[in-house]
Amino acid sequence: MPKPSPRFVCAACGAVGAKWTGRCEACGEWNTIAEEAPAAAGPGLQKAAAARKIAFVDLAGTAAPPPRTPIGIAELDRVLGGGLVPASAVLLAGDPGIGKSTLLLQAAAALAARGHRVLYVSGEEAIEQVRLRALRLGLAAAPLELAAAINLRDIAAALEDARDATMVVIDSIQTMWLDSIDSAPGTVGQVRASAFELIRLAKSSRFSIVLVGHVTKDGAIAGPRILEHMVDTVLYFEGDRGHQFRILRGVKNRFGATDEIGVFEMTETGLAEVANPSALFLAERRGNVSGNAVFAGMEGSRPLLVEVQCLLAPNPAGPARRSVVGWDGGRLAMLLAVLETRCGLRLNASDVYLNIAGGLRITEPAADLAVAAALVSAATDRPTDPGMVFFGEVGLSGEVRQVAQAESRLKEAQKLGFGAACLPRRVARGNRPLFAPEGVALQEIGHLGDLVVRFAGKADTSLR
Ligand code: TYD
Ligand code: MG
Repeated sequence: MPKPSPRFVCAACGAVGAKWTGRCEACGEWNTIAEEAPAAAGPGLQKAAAARKIAFVDLAGTAAPPPRTPIGIAELDRVLGGGLVPASAVLLAGDPGIGKSTLLLQAAAALAARGHRVLYVSGEEAIEQVRLRALRLGLAAAPLELAAAINLRDIAAALEDARDATMVVIDSIQTMWLDSIDSAPGTVGQVRASAFELIRLAKSSRFSIVLVGHVTKDGAIAGPRILEHMVDTVLYFEGDRGHQFRILRGVKNRFGATDEIGVFEMTETGLAEVANPSALFLAERRGNVSGNAVFAGMEGSRPLLVEVQCLLAPNPAGPARRSVVGWDGGRLAMLLAVLETRCGLRLNASDVYLNIAGGLRITEPAADLAVAAALVSAATDRPTDPGMVFFGEVGLSGEVRQVAQAESRLKEAQKLGFGAACLPRRVARGNRPLFAPEGVALQEIGHLGDLVVRFAGKADTSLR
């Protein structure tokens, strides 16, 4: 039998080539190509079968939503879309040490305590280590089944006998090892084949499989991005190790919304749910400091207030630095350009540091107005009204645009005791008036220049 020739696989996009290259021709990433041993001759764990005709069915069918099993941790259940869906695969990705194992041990214990069969396979830690953690979390008595294993053939054999399980946790997919593939655990080939086998088992046995995936330094899930395509739900567990809170973010969900977040706090006794994240994110706010503005944001269906902080440091010799934590650098550059060109604010001789307090990462364009307010406040050295929240998108001509869910944002501001909101000017759209919660005064803004006028009392509006 001729020796099978080697294949080279890109760790970023999964493209397969016949030779090694420094740069992947498919996705353009550098240094992601690795040799992968060809699959051993003969079937892997699956038996070869004769072709069977597939059956086609009506589109209408029975339109019942997928049944769900709530885990019992509300912040986790919301991100999952209400709970676990039978026969589905969930990938929980995050930096090493962020708390994935802690979260899943707590989830497994919560589900087991509700009478479900839960299996936890640890490939990273020995049984004793997991037990110690459970002890620390006060979960030592939870009726879940624990194993330490990495050999996928053994795990698969055990899972064949666990058809009545509700959830199986694999911690982590990078430690799994399939003996029919001639490469080390954590390589593209191993991760992909192991995940494929585990997901196949979940689909045939109808349990939910939760795979833990580590994230590399540049934020991608270690192993091929293909893993994201293989599973039904991808959750990222993120946070700053210097802060105690953690955000669980849904980035893909075949069974629910993807923009939901769950907020947790890492405590001495594990992850605690944070029911009111706005209060947490604003807890350390200092009033009367220039450069700060409170953004009334939305994360999925949930309003979330956070503080945007900006510092301008004079740097007349240039080149000016722009440093951003928790927001998009490109968007900051755009806002700076709009403030300079359309509003006459001179910022090009200053270094700009922008930070979303507490380590949260914001992706909404609605934060534009809050960031602009923080910038203008820093530039004019006048604090924003500490009782005011900001939201609105800014366009390239400096116009402030409407954003979705204004009322939810205003209600959250009211709930947290804010008395005013700076928001986009309403244009006649439909007949529905904006419902302003009692006690929240609305300051509508049509152009960023109005904001500058409000702070500085003057503006160069000739370019508008
Ligand atoms: P872990 O769940 O092991 O992270 P991952 O599985 O994502 O690698 O969490 C590790 C960190 O969490 C560790 O630095 C200690 C901290 N921790 C607490 O602060 N409190 C706790 O109760 C536990 C179990 C862990
Ligand atoms: Mg872990």
